[in-house]
Amino acid sequence: MSVTKSVKVLVATPIGSENVRGIAGVSPQVSVVDASDAARSDYRGEPGSKEKLDALLADAEIVYGRLLPKNLISRAPGLKWVQTMAAGADHYLKDKALVESPVILTGIAGMHAVQISEFVIGRMLMFAKQAPLSFRLHQEKQWKPFYSIQLASKTIGIVGLGSIGREVARLAKAFRMNVTAIRRTAKSAGTARYVDKLLPPEQLKTLLSESDFVVLTLPLTPETKGMIGEKELRLLKPTAYLVNVSRGEVINEDALIRALKENWFAGAALDTFTIEPLPADSPLWTLPNVIFSPHSAGGVEDYNARSTEIFCANLKRYLDGKRLHNVVDKKVGY
Ligand code: GLV
Repeated sequence: MSVTKSVKVLVATPIGSENVRGIAGVSPQVSVVDASDAARSDYRGEPGSKEKLDALLADAEIVYGRLLPKNLISRAPGLKWVQTMAAGADHYLKDKALVESPVILTGIAGMHAVQISEFVIGRMLMFAKQAPLSFRLHQEKQWKPFYSIQLASKTIGIVGLGSIGREVARLAKAFRMNVTAIRRTAKSAGTARYVDKLLPPEQLKTLLSESDFVVLTLPLTPETKGMIGEKELRLLKPTAYLVNVSRGEVINEDALIRALKENWFAGAALDTFTIEPLPADSPLWTLPNVIFSPHSAGGVEDYNARSTEIFCANLKRYLDGKRLHNVVDKKVGY
């Protein structure tokens, strides 16, 4: 009789008991430990919490969570795989020991396409249909009819044509927009599904200077950090709007603040910032041409359930010895 080895999954984030049961249900081989309370106490440095979490991590083979325990690699000697609950891998790749280890890192890229693209189009419509002005007029009890602009026949420039960028392109086409996009791997200009003009990264300037809406949907990597600086922001049309649902560090934030203060372009919807939470003294809190959101574009009501579903499908593959989905290329950065 062959003895099947048990595989211990440590859950580091509160995902709800139903989702924990879902993981256990993948196979009798799986033993799940909900270590979310211990992980939170450990993260806060509460007395005795380190030892408690260390004991739980000692024989963990898989860790699943949004925020990972500090010094994970040295504390979990049997660790083979980390499944995150995020689309972007940049935060996890700051952990040098994890990057240099053979531990597989997987994300949930793809899960964010629908909610983030809806958010992007929503922000574009808020600008186009003057939502900030409407809110102000309402508050001030002022009757001052205004004009809005149409999305139809305007150009959207999507920087990063991954799962989110592709869905933004599809929705933009439903609004009869012209779609330009940059894809890291595009070698020369061409077209793609829902994209009238597909450009390689070297042609970012063309996209920036021709678009009425510029949408950043690219991952933060060493290559994309600070990619949008003063030179790039000065290329935007004075009537253009910028939407950032990527990472704050993709933009040089000092240059962005200056650009918005001096109206180089019309406005920006910002979901992400160089430092999060956004520091209290940041001018981005009060600039009238900014629509702010606290890193919320990807948040959605059934996030934990959907993320866990992706994890469970991957866990099944792991147990079957198959190649995992959504493996992060630690060198490329996503
Ligand atoms: C959110 O920004 C994520 O990467 O999931």
